[in-house]
Amino acid sequence: MLGRRRRSLAGSRIAVTGASGGIGLALAEELARRGARLILNARREEVLREVSERLAALGAEVACAPGDIADETVRARVLATASERFGGLDILVNNAGVGAFGRFAEADPANLRRILEVDFFATAELTRAAIPLLRQGTRPAVVNIGSILGHRGIPYAVEYSAAKFAVRGFSEALRPELGKLGIDLLLVSPGTTDTGFFDNVLAMRVKLPWRTGQGGGVSPAKVAAATADALERGRKEIIPSAAGRALVLANRWFPGVVDWWLARYG
Ligand SMILES: NC(=O)c1ccc[n+]([C@@H]2O[C@H](COP(=O)([O-])OP(=O)(O)OC[C@H]3O[C@@H](n4cnc5c(N)ncnc54)[C@H](OP(=O)(O)O)[C@@H]3O)[C@@H](O)[C@H]2O)c1
Repeated sequence: MLGRRRRSLAGSRIAVTGASGGIGLALAEELARRGARLILNARREEVLREVSERLAALGAEVACAPGDIADETVRARVLATASERFGGLDILVNNAGVGAFGRFAEADPANLRRILEVDFFATAELTRAAIPLLRQGTRPAVVNIGSILGHRGIPYAVEYSAAKFAVRGFSEALRPELGKLGIDLLLVSPGTTDTGFFDNVLAMRVKLPWRTGQGGGVSPAKVAAATADALERGRKEIIPSAAGRALVLANRWFPGVVDWWLARYG
């Protein structure tokens, strides 16, 4: 049974995109602690090398495949690195992501394109390219880092909500196809997480009413541990925060109330 089986991460060959900071970095650390062999990607090569050296000093086997994951040649490099360094790939974690905040009508159209490129198209195309390798892997899986905003869209985050809905729809539709090939698919939908995400957005043209200051939300270490646990348990989907689960439930049972609440901010 796909939903119940257990998998050990020890020795697993796992590629993580966006691993130089935030959730991706925390996940790389958590997976290294559980004995995984890692292929790490992000654009900032120097930071990635530092992470890699730190994890290697703790005994982990780590390879780097730096570059912009929206670039097809970089995606190919991630997979080639897995093959060349570890002889294959067992788990792909599509984590790299970016957002933008502000009114859609006033936003730069380039942001819509870029967010979809990084958050959705790179996820979809890296997954497609990885399927032949994953099919030959041990207990293979794809992990897509979505967002709570892939369950409920919110004003001022229109492009990002659309991209994360796309990731969720993609994951749901693809899961049975991958299942037939023996590949699991885990969708992780974090709520607000205490990372550099809000500093790294393409635009911050509005003061978010539900964000009162810097930081806040759950720790990336908690999201990482929940993700690794879910992988070990063969789960299909997790929402690793109580606030996130509350929003999804409220939206399911009282959509009119959530509409009313969000309309005040429109
Ligand atoms: N933080 C939150 O509240 C939150 C909530 C829900 C979902 N998420 C999702 O969680 C994932 C990780 O976000 P985070 O919070 O950890 O954000 P973050 O702290 O900004 O980290 C993003 C990571 O992705 C990398 N990255 C960004 N664009 C990239 C690209 N084009 N190619 C390769 N790497 C790229 C960054 O490194 P470089 O700059 O070195 O490339 C960094 O390592 C994203 O998919 C995000 O949408 C976050």
